[in-house]
Amino acid sequence: MSALISLHDVCKSFGGIVVADHISIDIQRGEILGLIGPNGAGKTSLFNLISGVYPADSGSISVSGQSLDGLNLYERARLGVARTWQHMRLFASMSVLENLLVAPRDYPGEKISNIIFKSKQTAAANHAVRERAMGILKRMQLESIAHSNVNDITFGQQKLVGLARALMNDGECLLLDEPMAGVEGNAYETMKSIVREEAASGRAVCVVEHNVSFIKDLCNSAVFMANGKILERGSVDSLLASKTLADLYFGA
Ligand SMILES: Nc1ncnc2c1ncn2[C@@H]1O[C@H](COP(=O)(O)OP(=O)(O)OP(=O)(O)O)[C@@H](O)[C@H]1O
Ligand SMILES: [Mg+2]
Repeated sequence: MSALISLHDVCKSFGGIVVADHISIDIQRGEILGLIGPNGAGKTSLFNLISGVYPADSGSISVSGQSLDGLNLYERARLGVARTWQHMRLFASMSVLENLLVAPRDYPGEKISNIIFKSKQTAAANHAVRERAMGILKRMQLESIAHSNVNDITFGQQKLVGLARALMNDGECLLLDEPMAGVEGNAYETMKSIVREEAASGRAVCVVEHNVSFIKDLCNSAVFMANGKILERGSVDSLLASKTLADLYFGA
């Protein structure tokens, strides 16, 4: 079975800092892969390389068998690479719903001609996108705050909005950068069940997370990175029992 997300021998350096050192990873449809490692290991950089924030120096990345090499961020988003951001990056002057409406691929409302010459098809398509956004907010129990400014909601709700915005892309590749950092209570449980459901629906999910119990609960397998290198990969339990990980991550 070919992987949905495939990285082959990917390298990237910034001057003397190597953030990706011959990285090869395959993630299958339906899989939730945990990506763990100490601060500065290169986890977010790997997401930046997959999503096209910056290009790889060498190696190749494909999604659903389609090469992403040479494509920029929005072209990769259009091919179904959806991600969240470690520091959320919500649009601060906009409502929760508006934050979701910017995300879908080929949203008719974003074309100037469609704004000027409002056709019935454009209106219907815009309505469908709004309905889809409201459906996602409902799944996350956020529909009551759909029209609130994102600055006025709790941190946990903001994290869920980041995930909701990624889901609006409807991509098969879902990259989640520390979705649980600072999240607790209901938002924590909601985040967990949504991620599980999205994988079960056939997406390939990669989660960067320092929260070990979240990784244990959700991930089929995990990769341990440090200094831009993959040091270990395997089941979550085997990684957590690894001395290399204990030494580097927890300072043994
Ligand atoms: N655009 C860049 N230019 C220069 N250095 C960078 C750039 N992006 C990342 N780095 C460096 O690469 C290293 C890896 O950073 P990265 O953000 O990928 O780590 P991380 O594993 O996500 O860490 P954390 O757990 O703290 O989020 C760090 O030393 C960082 O300073
Ligand atoms: Mg990071």
